[in-house]
Amino acid sequence: MKTVHAFPSDTTAPAVVAIERESAVDAVAVDALVMAAFGPGRFAKTAERLREQSAMLSGFTIYDDGALIGSVRLWSVTSGQARGAFLGPIAVAKTIRSTGLGGKLVARCIEEARDLGLDGILLIGDPPYFERFGFKPAPKAVFSGPVNAARVMWLPLTDVSPDGPVRPVD
Ligand SMILES: CC(C)(COP(=O)(O)OP(=O)(O)OC[C@H]1O[C@@H](n2cnc3c(N)ncnc32)[C@H](O)[C@@H]1OP(=O)(O)O)[C@@H](O)C(=O)NCCC(=O)NCCS
Repeated sequence: MKTVHAFPSDTTAPAVVAIERESAVDAVAVDALVMAAFGPGRFAKTAERLREQSAMLSGFTIYDDGALIGSVRLWSVTSGQARGAFLGPIAVAKTIRSTGLGGKLVARCIEEARDLGLDGILLIGDPPYFERFGFKPAPKAVFSGPVNAARVMWLPLTDVSPDGPVRPVD
């Protein structure tokens, strides 16, 4: 059985980064990492409401010496004709940020969405961070809750783009 604890004691990225598929044993550590990164306010967010109604497609984790240091999840959604993965939350342990782990997690998500034959990846996030991966504004994706339209982004993998209400797929 994997022994996990939520916070790393080290501040350097592991020499070899292994991105693993999330499984049930990771859930407690993922919750703790996400809570530490975002705080309890995340539960009020439109994104969290959508995640509660969607099926989780995949989750990915990075561990270092038994400590979870990075996590990201993908959820199944549609918007118009587009079948997408809704990305989030993504979190990297505070002590180890800016060492490239967030980028590796996003890259793994893009690979996964491609493998699943999806039209793209949707998220609500900071454009200055996500633009570097190819995410673009998605003004036609309509969420059923308050959202800052400037933060709605889409990474296209096909010619089909979000256009209409973003619906969970369960
Ligand atoms: C966002 C997050 C996952 C990035 O993880 P990371 O491992 O630090 O990412 P990377 O190492 O790949 O990239 C770091 C770079 O992105 C920049 N960056 C990080 N978060 C950013 C943000 N919200 N907006 C703009 N730039 C950001 C850093 O300044 C750094 O820039 P540099 O390369 O010029 O030094 C991490 O900062 C985190 O967990 N934040 C708290 C949770 C959160 O806000 N998640 C969602 C973001 S919308």
